[in-house]
Amino acid sequence: PDFWAVIPAAGVGSRMRADRPKQYLPLAGKALIEHTLDCFLDHPGLLGLVVSIAPEDPYWPSLTCALDQRVQRVDGGAERADSVLAGLCHLRERGARLTDWVLVHDAARPNLARGDLDRLLGELADDPVGGLLAVPARDTLKRAGADGRVVETVDRSVIWQAYTPQMFRLGALLDALQAALEAGAAVTDEASAIEWVGESPRLVEGRADNLKVTRPEDLQWLEQRWAR
Ligand code: CTP
Ligand code: MG
Repeated sequence: PDFWAVIPAAGVGSRMRADRPKQYLPLAGKALIEHTLDCFLDHPGLLGLVVSIAPEDPYWPSLTCALDQRVQRVDGGAERADSVLAGLCHLRERGARLTDWVLVHDAARPNLARGDLDRLLGELADDPVGGLLAVPARDTLKRAGADGRVVETVDRSVIWQAYTPQMFRLGALLDALQAALEAGAAVTDEASAIEWVGESPRLVEGRADNLKVTRPEDLQWLEQRWAR
């Protein structure tokens, strides 16, 4: 199906401890966020893309992708969910239909494979709710007590790591995010807002290397991989 993309890119990247927000750090000759956008801009189903940027951000305007006619910038907010909401509101104001699909993807995930994007779109095209890319837990998992000792081993087969893109209908996601934020619920991803209003997003297995760059070693790992 055709889809809109919303890319939250208004974070400061405190855990990277770099001289600028991590989405602007170089990776294989481009800013990290340019790789992120490329995967969407190369897709024929893309209707348009909204990127949420911090209001005083001096880095975004100098990127070539900022000039792409399909890319629109909005001001991000204090939390990731606020930045996503700003992007969704912009889409609605610009005439996107409430039943249109929207894919929300972290600017800090530059290694999204086209195959994963196509699998997400394909598997959810007829889904009544939508869903997200996710990766099955790999390690043996322990539940800890307050004393730092193991309480029990958790059944790994039912545990998944939530990745992005996360794919929902514009109207449903707008309503869910607004309701969850107003209620003060913890909204760490789009799926958690959809869950908060009682729906059950579908998990679509994706590649583990679609990692979010969070700490310096994540970027080092990607640099080594891309150099090969
Ligand atoms: N993000 C955003 N607006 C915010 C906070 C985060 O658009 N107010 C974006 C980030 O730019 C990133 C994505 O959400 O692309 C995932 O967030 P995270 O990895 O936490 O990035 P930062 O918040 O920048 O990093 P940190 O938490 O280490 O400060
Ligand atoms: Mg953060």
